[in-house]
Parts: sequence; structure tokens; C-alpha cells
Amino acid sequence: MRSWAEIDLAALERNLDLIRRAVPPKMKYVSVVKADAYGHGILPTATRLMQSGVDLLAVANVKEAAEIREMGSGWPILVLGPLLEGEDSALLEYDLTATLSSPAEIPRFQEKAKCKGQKVKVHLKVDTGMGRLGIWWEDAQALIQEIEKVDEIELRGLLTHFADPSDLDFTSLQRERFKKIYDSIPASLKADLMVHADNSSSLLHLERDSIFNAIRIGLLQFGVSPKKESLFSDLPVEPVLSFHSKLAVVKELPAQTTISYGRQHQLTRKSKIGIVSAGYGDAIPLHCGNRAQALVRGQSYPIIGRVTMDQTVVDLTDAPDDLLSGEKVTLIGKQEDQEILLSKLADDANTIPWELLCSITKRVPRVYTTNRE
Ligand SMILES: Cc1ncc(COP(=O)(O)O)c(C=O)c1O
Repeated sequence: MRSWAEIDLAALERNLDLIRRAVPPKMKYVSVVKADAYGHGILPTATRLMQSGVDLLAVANVKEAAEIREMGSGWPILVLGPLLEGEDSALLEYDLTATLSSPAEIPRFQEKAKCKGQKVKVHLKVDTGMGRLGIWWEDAQALIQEIEKVDEIELRGLLTHFADPSDLDFTSLQRERFKKIYDSIPASLKADLMVHADNSSSLLHLERDSIFNAIRIGLLQFGVSPKKESLFSDLPVEPVLSFHSKLAVVKELPAQTTISYGRQHQLTRKSKIGIVSAGYGDAIPLHCGNRAQALVRGQSYPIIGRVTMDQTVVDLTDAPDDLLSGEKVTLIGKQEDQEILLSKLADDANTIPWELLCSITKRVPRVYTTNRE
């Protein structure tokens, strides 16, 4: 293989276990697996997560949900994003739970439910300050009253999403707004409601005795901590994904030669360079050129010049003489006692771990391992 991503499903399971043990036992676990399980591959990942006992899988849209449904008929699936009108029938066809955000969705879902003689399950999303999806919190109570009147719609959950968990005051305000809505719900409706907001970034400030009875986790379960200062960075989650490639060419170039498009690096000495067989067409972000490192035989070497679609150049001048083409190169992950964290590569590329994971392209085979300890 030229370039590949190794996905350690056993590490995923251990992470899940660690996170569950760090939060109060009443907390249900909503596992966010949208965008192909953050690039880890939806089917093997969702299968392992369900086998490991998550309570609900959350995806972005109906297409992602249908893919999971083909694998497991009993697995509960929440569609986090809004459904387009033509997609409503998929809710019953694939036994999905919708995220309802607006009065307009009520008659749409009601009609589909009536046709099939079934109920549509929904979680109501409240916009408490994210300014994206959800009914604006001041209008949420009226919407709940509307839902209550409709037999064909079953309210199973209530959720909100935090805009900036690092801003404690604003997050508290969002929690307060949400609690007001929760308090307005009749006790009969509240009984089995899943109430959730906290994601990987807000877990640090999880309220232990509160109305929330579920967490909604994406990044952290994949072993990537969203923030260095997070409490959960103390949680020894393990990276689930590593990314590797091979040296296609090793060659010498004279001093003063410039490297790659735009000539953004110039060799200061006679140098040995390695051409890694991967670029931004695989997973290596364009903007990490001249900033990030690559590991070869457990040593770190700088990436020089601009990353290109299919190749990336590393400076191997200080590498041993017998280091030749064909050698394994690690861009994310461990070699011997050296490790490049995905969050470090994201920093070097001036992006965020979520985006980096989503940029690992189809060209990169995912290789699953299940028992690394
Ligand atoms: C609505 C919603 N909830 C939860 C998550 C999971 O967030 P994280 O990956 O930070 O845990 C996301 C991620 O984008 C999301 O959009």
C-alpha cells in the first residue's frame, strides 16, 4: 500500500469505556458518527460502537443513517441534521429518530406517520445561542405544546448545542435557557426524555447533578482531545487513527535548490530529500508544509516546501545512509518512542482536528486492527 490509515477499533472501545467511567453512571452515551465516523469508516466503527454498548448513534443526514441501518436493524439512530422534504419517508422506512427544529416539520412528519399507521420519533433541538439549527429557545415552549397535540409524533429527546464551551459564561447562559424550556415540559412528557448537550469540548464543565442524562460525543471517543487544558486531556484516551505512507524516492539535491510549488523552501546545504507518496489528495494538509514533521524509523524529519496533491517532501539529510525508498513514513501516529498527534498536525496546518479527520480522502484505504494493547 502507498498510503493508509490504521484504525484501532480496540482503542475506540477502550476510549468509550474511559469516557463512560468519567461521567455519572446515569449518563446515556450518544455516539456521533457523522461524516463517515469522522473519517474512521462508518460501518466498522458503528458496528464496534454498538457492540460496545453505546445507547444511540448520531449521524448528520438520512443517507448516513440508511448506511448504518443496512448493518443493524435494531440500532437506534438519531439524525442530527434537518430532513429535506423528500426525505421524510426515510424516517419510518429505516426506523430513525429525527431532530425536529421547526413548526413546519410537524405536519410533514404527521402525514408520513398517518400513511404508515406508525409514530415518528423526534428529539427537539433548542437553539439556546448556537445560532444554527434548532427552534429559538423563546419559541420552544409553544412548539412543544404543538408536538403534544399530535399523536403521531413521539417526543423522545431534548437537546441543544454549545457555541463555545471555552466561554463559561456564555455556556452557562445556554444551559439556563435550556433548563427553562425543560422545566416547562409537562411531567408526563419528561419521563423518558433523553436530555443532552455536552460534547467532547464541554465535558470539562459537565454539570453532574442536572437535568442532563446523556452526553453526545464525537472527537474524544476517537482519542483526540479537543483542548489541551481540558480535564479530559487527563483522560488517557488513545488515538484510534494513525496515517502512514511510504518514501517513493530518496535523492540528493545541491544547496540553494528550491523545493516544490511556489519555491517556498530553499536548501541551505547539499541535502538528501525523501518524496513521501502522499499529499493533500490523501490526508496531508496543504498548510503544514514547512511546519510539520514526519517520522521515519522512529526519527522526526521536517516536511519542507509546499505539500502537493500526491507528494510531500521531507528533509532526510540527517537520516542514516541506508534509508531508502520503500521505507514507512508516519504522518499521524507513533513510531518507536516518537508520536505525532493528530491535533499537533492540525495545529501545524492551521486547522482543527475535526476538519483534518474529515479530509482523509477516499483514496486512503482504512486498515482495521482490533487488538492492539
Ligand atoms: C450537534 C452535534 N453534537 C455533537 C457533536 C460532537 O462534537 P465533538 O466531536 O466535539 O464531540 C457534533 C459535532 O460536530 C455536533 O454537530
